[in-house]
Amino acid sequence: MSWNFDDIKTQLTADQSAVADAKSLESFRVKYLGRSGLLQQIYDSMKTLPPDEKPLVGKEANVLRQSLEIFVNDRKKVLESSDSKPSGFFDPTMPGVAFSVGHQHLLTQTMDEICDIFQQMGFSIHEGPEKETEFNNFTALNIPDNHPSRDGFDTFYLDEPDPKQKGARCLLRSHTSPGQIRIMQQFKPPLAVVIPGKVYRPDAVDASHSFMFHQIEGLLVDKDIKFSDLKGLIETFLKKFFGPEIRMRFRPHYFPFTEPSAEVDISWQEGKKDWLEIMGCGMVHPNVFKAVGYPDGKYTGLAFGLGVERIAMLRHRINDIRYFYQNDVRFLEQF
Ligand code: DAH
Repeated sequence: MSWNFDDIKTQLTADQSAVADAKSLESFRVKYLGRSGLLQQIYDSMKTLPPDEKPLVGKEANVLRQSLEIFVNDRKKVLESSDSKPSGFFDPTMPGVAFSVGHQHLLTQTMDEICDIFQQMGFSIHEGPEKETEFNNFTALNIPDNHPSRDGFDTFYLDEPDPKQKGARCLLRSHTSPGQIRIMQQFKPPLAVVIPGKVYRPDAVDASHSFMFHQIEGLLVDKDIKFSDLKGLIETFLKKFFGPEIRMRFRPHYFPFTEPSAEVDISWQEGKKDWLEIMGCGMVHPNVFKAVGYPDGKYTGLAFGLGVERIAMLRHRINDIRYFYQNDVRFLEQF
């Protein structure tokens, strides 16, 4: 039998490129170097060859064996070291790996945006503690001892006496308004601050209530601050936040710490009657100035407080407050 070594090499090259893992390498080895593999068949056939052909075929067979052994050994090492993955191989045509980038929670975005608007108008940002005194949360804000909001059902009281007021306790602040007291005790007018933060109330959780939510308090105190300043400020804020077409109205209301007081309603569509309440506000009550030790009659001030969840829900048409806290990625990824 005569051998065509050119044909053998062509076939060999194709078989070599098909070796991708340990299993295919082993079948390659058996096919060429195995006990009844091609090489052995060549050697066996030499017995019957005419004497003048033997050295030629023997030489070709030896070259072939050498290159086969080198290939099998080298490929074995490569496959072992790369744990069956082609090592250092980079295919620039493969699609890239997309990293998912996180973002701030909608409530954080909303608070930042509101604070930014007031900062542009000259307000500075302050934060107060979530654990407050009964004095700051109620008494100094002109909320009388018998006011229902002091009731245990509306406030989380702590088992710790209030160092500022005899017989009173510490509590989790039920609004950000005690931040006003802390600022005024610390600074003299003129002052303009916004106070963002968490507040707590023992409400049963449902689509519009949570035992914890976020508020932003605003306070501006100087000489000659008027109710028209309050109205202008709120209108400017609402137009910047909701857009120029937003409509607002002030509705008379009662808060112990402001006089006069109002609730602000907004509406998007002209002629539509469904006004949505968005915040409380008013002119700082003289008793509040008295509680912080400001001289009688020297200053006037405006204050406001808004619920961050409520504003975010109105703006993004979210109908259940619980979405904010459940951390369901389907919700988080929408905003
Ligand atoms: N503290 C009030 C609340 O939680 C909101 C509020 C109303 C704040 C009027 C104010 C204000 O500063 O002037 O319901």
